Amino acid sequence: MSSKDREKWNRKYQEKPALLEERPPSEMLVRHLHLVKGNCALDLACGSGRHTRFLAEKGFCVDAVDISSVALKRLAGKLKNSAVTLIEADLDDFTPKYGRYDLAVMTNYLDRPLIARTAQSLKSGACFFIETYMAHPQNEKKDSNPDFLLKAGELKTFFDNSFSVTAYEEFWNEAYELYSMRKQAIFVQKK
Ligand SMILES: C[S@@+](CC[C@H](N)C(=O)[O-])C[C@H]1O[C@@H](n2cnc3c(N)ncnc32)[C@H](O)[C@@H]1O
Repeated sequence: MSSKDREKWNRKYQEKPALLEERPPSEMLVRHLHLVKGNCALDLACGSGRHTRFLAEKGFCVDAVDISSVALKRLAGKLKNSAVTLIEADLDDFTPKYGRYDLAVMTNYLDRPLIARTAQSLKSGACFFIETYMAHPQNEKKDSNPDFLLKAGELKTFFDNSFSVTAYEEFWNEAYELYSMRKQAIFVQKK
């Protein structure tokens, strides 16, 4: 596990507890959830678990992965059922189990090689939802590491014709976020 990333995120959550507050799930995920067949989900870099909790409430079993013990502890305290497995792990070294999931979610986090590894972990007909920040001259946060920002249209480039793109959008982020930032989201289905 990268102790540097773990310390960085634990410190960030301790210094800015607002980041752990209740947040609604992504609109695109809510809109397309009816397309998911089956109830086995993976939430990558789950943080305090807005999607893990949303999915668990909808009847999914969720494997929720994050490097931050602070975020996972917070999430554990909010869970009302035991259909969630919390996994403290560094996603740089994490390979989700082959062919296991009906749905994978990666939001506000970008690890390009992990996208391909996660695609392998999906069952035939399963869905993959990704939403995160992109580079844009009007982004308020000027010190973001450019390696972790998507280029225009980039999310579409990760999926070959073994996937169909159900929805793709570029938009300004939600008003509750600390900085105004351009985002990109994609919902795909494996054929
Ligand atoms: C901005 S938060 C996103 C939380 C959640 N997905 C959401 O959309 O609300 C980014 C999360 O990525 C986690 N993270 C950062 N680097 C990581 C790594 N290498 N492995 C696992 N989790 C990591 C952080 O701990 C943090 O909880």
